[in-house]
Amino acid sequence: MNLSVRDDDLRELMDDTDCDPARLDATLRRFETINRLVSGWGRVYRTHLAPALARLGRPARVLDLGSGGGDLVTRLAALARRDGLDVEWTGADPDPRAHAIARARSVDGVRFACTDAAALVAAGERFDAVLSNHVLHHLNGGLVPFLSESRALSSGIVLHGDIARSHLAYGLYTVGVTPFAPGTFLRTDGLRSIRRSFTPSELRTVLEDAAPGVWSVSTPAPFRVLAAGPGDA
Ligand SMILES: C[S@@+](CC[C@H](N)C(=O)[O-])C[C@H]1O[C@@H](n2cnc3c(N)ncnc32)[C@H](O)[C@@H]1O
Repeated sequence: MNLSVRDDDLRELMDDTDCDPARLDATLRRFETINRLVSGWGRVYRTHLAPALARLGRPARVLDLGSGGGDLVTRLAALARRDGLDVEWTGADPDPRAHAIARARSVDGVRFACTDAAALVAAGERFDAVLSNHVLHHLNGGLVPFLSESRALSSGIVLHGDIARSHLAYGLYTVGVTPFAPGTFLRTDGLRSIRRSFTPSELRTVLEDAAPGVWSVSTPAPFRVLAAGPGDA
């Protein structure tokens, strides 16, 4: 497997609007486990998001852009509630299939909208923090607009978390996904996602070209990248 260059021509099976609905449903539901195990958001919440929300000293509004099946925003809401933070959470995703699963996860303080970043900007929406998980690698020509829309929606921080492409990540995922993969697209799409993902230095270059001096890239957990920047709402 050649992972020395990003393979952004690859399409994920779940992006096919005609894909098997039962497998798609199982995939979106099982993302909860995968995200919990590998996404590193527990740490990003503690190091970046919770301190920023606490500093506001007032109720906050937070947006998860491209929230998929809604597991991450629901989990972050639970962490914030445990920490006594008063937050209204929104998960937004333009894919109606993902939106249906997310809505079934609705809990107090979390709402889901079937819409995209550009439409939220056009509607004049504004949040104290905007985040995304596994969206950057998913976008081709839409990446630069997505980055600027995410900033336009936030008057505070913007955090985009994603996979960092590497041979080790590919090898470990190939083995580690085995118990979770039956009946889902997790094996094929996870491996394709890794092949589509940025290395930290590639992401730094893309972000610097898009908005010089704005973004910083870190590796908050093994096989993860985090782009952090200020909103400009
Ligand atoms: C790989 S999925 C990640 C889903 C979820 N965040 C997770 O971690 O499981 C990428 C999602 O981004 C959504 N998406 C793509 N372009 C978007 C945009 N411009 N605004 C909001 N969401 C977008 C897609 O519909 C898709 O559900």
